[in-house]
Amino acid sequence: ANQTTTRRRDHLYKVLVIGDLATGKTSIIKRYVHRFFSQNYRATIGVDFALKVLNWDENTVIRLQLWDIAGQERYGNMTRVYFKEAVGAFIVFDCTRVNTFESVKNWKADLDSKVLLSDGSKIPCVLLANKCDQPKEGIVNNNHQMDEYCKSEGFSAWFTTSAKDNINIDEAARVLIEKILEKE
Ligand code: GTP
Ligand code: MG
Repeated sequence: ANQTTTRRRDHLYKVLVIGDLATGKTSIIKRYVHRFFSQNYRATIGVDFALKVLNWDENTVIRLQLWDIAGQERYGNMTRVYFKEAVGAFIVFDCTRVNTFESVKNWKADLDSKVLLSDGSKIPCVLLANKCDQPKEGIVNNNHQMDEYCKSEGFSAWFTTSAKDNINIDEAARVLIEKILEKE
């Protein structure tokens, strides 16, 4: 090595994507990683994986290992193995179905009970109100209430997203990564 050599950093981060059935978890990942959307619904069985590689800055490569957990797994029933060594999470609800929002606090409680960072703090988690290309129902129409909800429930941030129209997915991922980096 010589003095002109810059130090390249390479991070691998495990990120969970959880939330109720058919809220769009797989679609968000497909959009983010493969730049692709399909209207067809095929429920995820168990867990799927995807890897997103980002050139974060000129010295830093970030590899996000995305764990796409089936909504069928249901909060509370999810095996602890899924959570092991996760450093960030997205919780996804469907902004056209209020009941999927009502589940969010259960997913969050399950997450926080099963994984913590090495310093004992909760892992950063970003809330995604997906299918925002459709008419939205309930609290998600009120930005102020959503901000308050996120603060009280311990979310780092929330975004309305659309996997269909590619809205806010890169932005949400960027915020989650920033939070993960802050915690390191
Ligand atoms: P499970 O694997 O069963 O937990 O479902 P999932 O959360 O992975 O949902 P998936 O991505 O399979 O999407 C469910 C359905 O919603 C599919 O028919 C998708 O095409 C549709 N969908 C997903 N995202 C969007 C979106 O942003 N807008 C619209 N309009 N439809 C979407
Ligand atoms: Mg799925």
